[in-house]
Amino acid sequence: MLTWNEKFATGSALLDTQHRMLFVKVNHLESLLDGPPQPKSAYDELINFLGTYAITHFEFEEECMLQYRCPTHGKNKEAHAAFLAKFGEFRNAYIEQGPEIELLRELQRFISDWITNHILAVDIGLRGCVKARSGLP
Ligand SMILES: [Fe+2]
Repeated sequence: MLTWNEKFATGSALLDTQHRMLFVKVNHLESLLDGPPQPKSAYDELINFLGTYAITHFEFEEECMLQYRCPTHGKNKEAHAAFLAKFGEFRNAYIEQGPEIELLRELQRFISDWITNHILAVDIGLRGCVKARSGLP
């Protein structure tokens, strides 16, 4: 299970809230997989939510990095595109195979690893940029 803590802080309270929401949803997927089989609609809903939320969150975060002239902006954009491509592959496999536990476990592990590594390697780059510019009008 993922737990948000201060090491994931980006300098933007709104972005941190969005990251927390992603943690909650990935944890929800993990708890579904640890429990008894659920109706397909439960997995559909979660996967659709994750796909839609990721896009909205990435757009917002990229805009923040642009606004704060954060040097990690380009790297962030590329990483987001790579995530969405991989997520799309999972979604296609899910559409073909249905809620296969192994596939969903792989998806859950992929998102968990990706989100934690990405926040620590890229997103927290924003922290210094917010600090450096907070005194500006
Ligand atoms: Fe990011």
